[in-house]
Amino acid sequence: MDAPTFELERWFAEVEAGADVMLAESGVRSLPASDFDTDLGELGYVIPTNGEPALRAAIGQRYGRSADEVVCTVGTQEANFLAFQSLLSPGDHAVVVTPTYQSLHAIPDSICDVTRVELAAPDWTLDVDAVAEAIRPETELVVLNNPNNPTGHQHDAETVEAVYDLAADADAYLLGDEVYRRLAPDPAPAVASLGEHGISTAGLSKSYGLAGCRFGWLAGPEDAVEDVEAWKDYTTISPGTFGHHVAEQVFGVGGFESREAELRQAALDHVETNAEITAEWAREHDLDWDDPVGCNVLLDVPDGFDDSRAFCRVVVDEASVVLAPGDCFGVEGTFRLGFGLPTEELRDGLERVAGVL
Ligand SMILES: Cc1ncc(COP(=O)(O)O)c(C=O)c1O
Repeated sequence: MDAPTFELERWFAEVEAGADVMLAESGVRSLPASDFDTDLGELGYVIPTNGEPALRAAIGQRYGRSADEVVCTVGTQEANFLAFQSLLSPGDHAVVVTPTYQSLHAIPDSICDVTRVELAAPDWTLDVDAVAEAIRPETELVVLNNPNNPTGHQHDAETVEAVYDLAADADAYLLGDEVYRRLAPDPAPAVASLGEHGISTAGLSKSYGLAGCRFGWLAGPEDAVEDVEAWKDYTTISPGTFGHHVAEQVFGVGGFESREAELRQAALDHVETNAEITAEWAREHDLDWDDPVGCNVLLDVPDGFDDSRAFCRVVVDEASVVLAPGDCFGVEGTFRLGFGLPTEELRDGLERVAGVL
């Protein structure tokens, strides 16, 4: 089967290497490896291959779940992929709230019938009744990315719980991709903490600035986790040793003090500073700013450009700055700006885009 083209990754592959400023990275600025212990010892597989039990227990605690209800993966991307592979079959049906990160609808689409429930501009709130209408007897999975990429909208507790109840009533799972959740000063509940129909995926990439560790996880009911583990034997077998070792330091296992609170606070402070700078810049250029959660915002393409791709192409050609065209998320006429990068780079990138505007 041909893989559906991953529009955003292909755009980055085309323009990122030759550009000066990356204003389209969706996570918070990367931390140096020297901030962590990197003496891994032997570079074997992580044993057991679903992750060290103490690490899984520490991650599980965030959801009120045990070590057996967590599997460590190679990034959130693998956690999502394995969830779709193991929970969906031809003939099933999935409901996916969009716009969102492409893999969250493209992989289900490659397996079974998918109904998309669209978030509406300008505030991107979710119409829970539309999810209820989309659910069918054969629905196995409802997918909600919260906080949302690309809009930066956070669905509140009431909305998440209402969607969970709909999935539970339909005897389906609600999969919450919560890779940006720790970047919310006041996070909505994690789906895996809501009950037996809740599965959460997340990782170290976006909220902590540790994307290169390629470390993620899935938390949920034990039978769903076992199904995921069965597929993981065919993908990456175990998480990477390096990412697993850094995750032990983040969560304070394996003899390390936990650094989670400190790393999260540093990321939150960084994003707050950068959000203020970006909001001010947006106001100066008459671009609507809707207080996004995390470090992504979806803005309207200014007048005078044919479409989102044309605008982003001019910005990369004239200013050597990469933005993410909204068409990569199915939202024509917009572009996604990621403001998580180091503050001086952000200022430089915004100034360059201002030159184009
Ligand atoms: C919503 C969402 N999920 C998953 C991923 C992939 O995350 P990871 O680097 O943890 O694999 C991304 C990356 O941008 C994302 O935006």
